[in-house]
Amino acid sequence: MNHFLDIHRTDPADLRAIIDDARAMKDARAGRPKGAKDDDQPLGGHVVALIFEKPSTRTRVSFDVGVRQMGGETLVLTGSEMQLGHGETIADTARVLSRYVDLIMIRTFDQDALLELAEHATVPVINGLTNQSHPCQIMADVMTFEEHRGPIAGRKVTWCGDGNNVFASLAHAAGQFGFDLTFSGPETLDPDAKALAFARDKGRPIIIERDPETAVTGADLVVTDTWVSMHDSQTTRERRHNQLRPYQVNERLMSKAKPDSLFMHCLPAHREEEATSAVMDGPHSVIFDEAENRLHAQKAIMRWCLGV
Ligand code: CP
Ligand code: NVA
Repeated sequence: MNHFLDIHRTDPADLRAIIDDARAMKDARAGRPKGAKDDDQPLGGHVVALIFEKPSTRTRVSFDVGVRQMGGETLVLTGSEMQLGHGETIADTARVLSRYVDLIMIRTFDQDALLELAEHATVPVINGLTNQSHPCQIMADVMTFEEHRGPIAGRKVTWCGDGNNVFASLAHAAGQFGFDLTFSGPETLDPDAKALAFARDKGRPIIIERDPETAVTGADLVVTDTWVSMHDSQTTRERRHNQLRPYQVNERLMSKAKPDSLFMHCLPAHREEEATSAVMDGPHSVIFDEAENRLHAQKAIMRWCLGV
């Protein structure tokens, strides 16, 4: 049994196998209707709990559809509907759910809640986003880059904006997949020191470059995300906007990257804030391939977790 809790907690060979499996599964069902079952039905007889303590469009729909395509069933639960949100411990919730379902995907707040759930569950647990990381997203992003441009190893990736949960998983991926990552954002919104240390220890130290034009120069991939994440207090909104405005990804900034560079954003986006529509809908953008690849990457993650 394998949990998928974070990219830095997963063996690089397993990460590579997951990406390759995702690609193969995507190719195998090309052109078929979304609801068509995969031929091998690897999740036949399995039921998967999808728990959301925060809103979601992509994670919710892609996991649900992915399980159905593989022949399994889903239960979508929101934290507020569960006893978890009303005093039952995470450990007891993990023990009970493990008696009913074969796999648990959870989107929650603190990383420690995810780790506690995994510690006490006797079925695999998948991280569907915490305040600190978003590994499923970055697996889809690596898959998307490689689909368009070949191996990501050794390529230059630049992040513009908040050093948030999605960035932390990208930093973990830099270490595990071996690409060069530059962070460009204000010092007050610097990334998690542990994520930076992980990449450094893996021989891929993350470059911190405060000037966005310098940071993006020569990049193969430019990535950004919302300036205010779900766990951030709305009272910080104006301050964050003022600090992050110089890091907006617009056509002028993208012109500094390589001519064949890609642009990614995990979505949901606030158009004309962190990125302009001209970039999001422009020739470098692969944002909707990224969204689609959540489905394929997560199907491969679920198979890996269950060994099916
Ligand atoms: N990118 C992503 O995780 O989107 P949702 O919040 O809609 O799931
Ligand atoms: N950083 C964002 C990602 C949303 C998918 C958030 O946590 O709200």
